[in-house]
Amino acid sequence: MILTFRLGTFSVLSTAEIFSLLLAHEINFDVLNRNKDYLILKLEKEVNPEVLLELLGGTREISYEDNIYKFNPKKSISVEFKRPRIDTVNGMLTSKLSKILINLSLTPETKTIYDPFCGTGTVLLEAMLMGYNAIGSDLNPRMVKYTSENCRWLENKYTGTGKWKTFVSDARNIRKIKNEWDSIVTESYLGIPRKDYRIDKNIVKNISDTEKLLEMFLKEASGITRVGQRIVVILPRFASKNRPIILSLEKTYSRYNLRKPPIIDNLGDLIYYRKGAKVLRNIFVLERF
Ligand SMILES: C[S@@+](CC[C@H](N)C(=O)[O-])C[C@H]1O[C@@H](n2cnc3c(N)ncnc32)[C@H](O)[C@@H]1O
Repeated sequence: MILTFRLGTFSVLSTAEIFSLLLAHEINFDVLNRNKDYLILKLEKEVNPEVLLELLGGTREISYEDNIYKFNPKKSISVEFKRPRIDTVNGMLTSKLSKILINLSLTPETKTIYDPFCGTGTVLLEAMLMGYNAIGSDLNPRMVKYTSENCRWLENKYTGTGKWKTFVSDARNIRKIKNEWDSIVTESYLGIPRKDYRIDKNIVKNISDTEKLLEMFLKEASGITRVGQRIVVILPRFASKNRPIILSLEKTYSRYNLRKPPIIDNLGDLIYYRKGAKVLRNIFVLERF
């Protein structure tokens, strides 16, 4: 069957998400055409485009034969704004981006997703809504309490959600839950929140703090990751006065037997931002080899 996907604002990210979702469901495909607005794929087996659209976060509509299936934005924002606990200081993911990241992780159905920098638990909530089990930890006990309250709220409000568990932990010391999760999906610590990101020396400090922490986290995580498992991690990218300053894991991850899966690497940088945002997000999809 031939499907035409109308992509969202971040077409590269949406394309990566679609490819990952199809691979996760063992659906082979050929790319018939691709530009920044549309992706046309030939799928080797029949799928229900409506169901596919429900699963995706970055696609606006799917056309199939004469029908157009449109994305309903109200559904994706309901969890984001109605959950009891939010934290605007440290930064939160959107529901939509969390869903994209979860799809990029290729986690098989009903398995467990772990967020070691869980904050208010956006990844856990979205994973539970998608039927996954979710584990979250954070260095800050207050954030773990927030995540727990949000997960409790979600399971009371929706049916069919996955199970969850939370605990306080430094992300550099997570061996105690080895074998309990199938993929890591997380937004790392973004550095000390600042009012003015235009002052370069502040940003440099943020970058070096976060870089050191992330390197230690990746070393720890890869030590307890099995071949083929994925770690999807968001890193900050700062729009400073003079130039974009990018926190990159390029030099680091290969040291720990991690690589970007070729199908994702071929697409280029996966970047996400919101209008007016001071901190942009770089998305790294890493796979243990
Ligand atoms: C950007 S926030 C994550 C926000 C989350 N994605 C959400 O949507 O609410 C980063 C989190 O990392 C936590 N953190 C900072 N250093 C940490 C460490 N060494 N280990 C674990 N968590 C840490 C902070 O407490 C903060 O909650």
